[in-house]
Amino acid sequence: MREGTASLVRREDYSAPAYWIRSVDLTFDLDPQKTLVINRMEVERNPDLPMQPLRLDGEDINLTRVLVNGESISFRVEGAQLVLDGLPDGRFTLELRNTCAPAKNTQLSGLYTSGGGFFTQCEAQGFRRITYFLDRPDVMAVYTVTLKADAKAYPVLLSNGNLVEQAELDGGKHCAKWHDPFPKPSYLFALVAADLVMREQKIRSRSGKDHLLQVYVRAGDLDKTEHAMNSLIASVAWEEARFGLSLDLERFMIVAVSDFNMGAMENKGLNIFNTKFVLASAATATDFDFAHVESVVGHEYFHNWTGNRVTCRDWFQLSLKEGLTVFRDQEFSMDMAGAASARAVQRIQDVRLLRQVQFSEDAGPMAHPVRPDQYQAIDNFYTATVYEKGAEVVRMMHTLVGRDGFAAGMKRYFERHDGQAVTCDDFAQAIADANPGSALAGRLDAFKRWYAQAGTPQLAASGRYDAESRRYTLELTQRGLPTPGQPDKQPWVIPVAIGLVAADDGRALPLQLEGEPAAGGTDRVLVLDQPSAAFTFVGVESEPVPSLLRGFSSPVVLDAALTDAQLLVLLAHDQDAFNRWEAGQQLALRRLLAAARRPDDGTPVLDEPFVAAMHSLLRDPSLDAAFKELALTLPTETYVGERLGAEIDPQRVHAVREAARLQLAQALRDDWVWAYEHHQPAGGYSPDAHSAGQRALANLALAMLVLDATGSGDTVWPGRAYQRFKDAGNMTDRFGALSALVNAHAELAVPALERFHALFKGEALVIDKWFALQAGASEPVGEHAGRVFTRAKALLQHADFSLRNPNRARSVLAALFLNNPAAFHRRDAAGYVFWAERVCEVDAINPQLASRLARALDRWRALAEPYRSAAREAIARVAAKPELSEDTREIVTRALQ
Ligand code: PHE
Ligand code: ZN
Repeated sequence: MREGTASLVRREDYSAPAYWIRSVDLTFDLDPQKTLVINRMEVERNPDLPMQPLRLDGEDINLTRVLVNGESISFRVEGAQLVLDGLPDGRFTLELRNTCAPAKNTQLSGLYTSGGGFFTQCEAQGFRRITYFLDRPDVMAVYTVTLKADAKAYPVLLSNGNLVEQAELDGGKHCAKWHDPFPKPSYLFALVAADLVMREQKIRSRSGKDHLLQVYVRAGDLDKTEHAMNSLIASVAWEEARFGLSLDLERFMIVAVSDFNMGAMENKGLNIFNTKFVLASAATATDFDFAHVESVVGHEYFHNWTGNRVTCRDWFQLSLKEGLTVFRDQEFSMDMAGAASARAVQRIQDVRLLRQVQFSEDAGPMAHPVRPDQYQAIDNFYTATVYEKGAEVVRMMHTLVGRDGFAAGMKRYFERHDGQAVTCDDFAQAIADANPGSALAGRLDAFKRWYAQAGTPQLAASGRYDAESRRYTLELTQRGLPTPGQPDKQPWVIPVAIGLVAADDGRALPLQLEGEPAAGGTDRVLVLDQPSAAFTFVGVESEPVPSLLRGFSSPVVLDAALTDAQLLVLLAHDQDAFNRWEAGQQLALRRLLAAARRPDDGTPVLDEPFVAAMHSLLRDPSLDAAFKELALTLPTETYVGERLGAEIDPQRVHAVREAARLQLAQALRDDWVWAYEHHQPAGGYSPDAHSAGQRALANLALAMLVLDATGSGDTVWPGRAYQRFKDAGNMTDRFGALSALVNAHAELAVPALERFHALFKGEALVIDKWFALQAGASEPVGEHAGRVFTRAKALLQHADFSLRNPNRARSVLAALFLNNPAAFHRRDAAGYVFWAERVCEVDAINPQLASRLARALDRWRALAEPYRSAAREAIARVAAKPELSEDTREIVTRALQ
């Protein structure tokens, strides 16, 4: 669509397809310039609907022949559809021939080339860029695929399912035939033809079946595949143990590709991954990278059941597979982390992401329900709301029915729906039906508002303790804010996990609700399903501090109206590690907000009691290093901005947060020295949670010490950081030291960056880090302000930079636009001008990538002047471009509405 009148697809307009495609036999003669596709389908009219023409979707392909039962027929192409009239009633064979041009496919959707090989990406609507098809997830077919290609250039030929035939052909070509016995929607189709090497491993599953696991990569990367393979083996075992679900294929393949729009794709039996989420070695990947590889490998593997065996009826149901699968990969990561404290660390990281990205999405022009009602470009709805908030909705169900109840619900879901394309309602119904009498089953309809209503619920709590009667009454009130198209909200069903912590000594108080027998527990879940409700606890022996929303039991913004003194009690004593962290964040947030709201009068951002609390926390021998690192990290500028709500001055927020960071660096200097020196894991590198936590804290300490030193002109710690950068035995330590120098703008950052680049010239993923570190670096406050922005712009001229590779493009542009508010939001509007130019430039190459970058100005309305007007102008400039993709058009149009 080129005009502002782009077509909207609506959820309520769903109707079943007029035809089914039962099987597909595809033959590819692969050539980068012109690939020939022969597509033979067994088609059957849907007898439930009146007779009508068959309309197949197609995009950017050349149709050369149409045969019905072997006879050529007349056809017409209407817009993006092939329309066939006068088809036989019942079942028939439809054969199409078409060509496509993989080397010209810079969108990376459909069949494209990367690094000299062929790869596909079909979710959500890429299959139509390969051949005409009923490209919708409720049409499921059995696929047989024959690949023909030059044997030398493309020695590896892969598709879904099992390899059934291989042969040498004339003219130096070879071919392979694959058959996937499981009916699947077209978005799960995949092929790979490339020059790759492979690591493989045979495993025997619990049920006694043998499987072959394979990880395919480019020749130089084999030494970086061990972690992905181990993660895959762990995923198979975990899913069997936790959910009783086994691998249903003899062969399961992962292929790494360096040009990819997203993280990875769960094509049946042939997962295709962004190299970023496969390759990891101690020398090239950080602990974070290792953790991401593990969770993404798990995520895609878990899709085999939640997504592939049971798929989505239509794309509005995307969260059916994504929310559920994110929930599962989160649980997997937690179980792999082991100890309870490590689980809490995992949870904190997940919640940070949710707040940073999803809460701001929910507060802006792209706010949409977990199950959206309409879209222009479905690619725009692979969002934090569908994924992360969707996972929270599943987590709340898990909380309401319990761990065993949830497992029973999952069992019910597969008993009912295996092999089907279903809806979010079907999932919720299965969980509820397996748990009659649960807190979920009794209020399922109200609970499902989580799928239907956009926006983050605001939860307020206030408590009253009556020492005489030893009663504590907690009043909870919820409120919904208007979102686009949804001015009014019905109450949500909000599970509130709670404990009461004694104000005097921090012990956990037993919980007994009025009217209930004493149960003795110190932890329970209240359910708020009304606009407000009061809960009275009896037998409360001393004044409590309420610890609410433990483990972040619902995705809401909580105002618990606690005093600093109460928050300090929670920070020091809460039995719930998540809430201990949260209390610290609240204390920090309060101070940052107060400072951001007042004019800069030189008052320190942090006060003595807060700094003292941070000191005790850092020195507390009972806490994990990973937890300390999280607790000592201040809320991000984006999150602080969100909590300000309106009139955000990104420069002021940045200055305030930087001042607070420097204060912590200076005030806790001796503690940072201690933390740095005492958190150096001994022995060889291992990415386990415990060692990673130690490295994380040591890196934070080093960053603080270098920051403090560059402020005071001291050269000892920058020197030490440089030494560590040079000598480091792993990427986490090396990159930590480099980041410390770069973010503090130490003089040694310059030679360190040069050396790093020279050292890792051939490692694309490491060079991505090199770019991202510079474009995401903390913008200096004061006289050198603007340095980072200028550098980021200059990086685009670097010989290694390219807009065509999404990882590389993101390494500068996403780092700047989405993760570096102070470098991007400038009073002179230069950041916005640069943004508008880059969005348009990228849009012509890769609309999906462009529309992600376009979202950087979603929250322009919340900005203070002069930012707001300048941002609006920049968005309007993009929107005025006539030849914009539908993806980017949808984002900028919504932003201006
Ligand atoms: N379905 C993929 C996942 O979350 C994400 C994806 C979407 C990848 C669209 C490519 C294109 O696992
Ligand atoms: Zn997914």
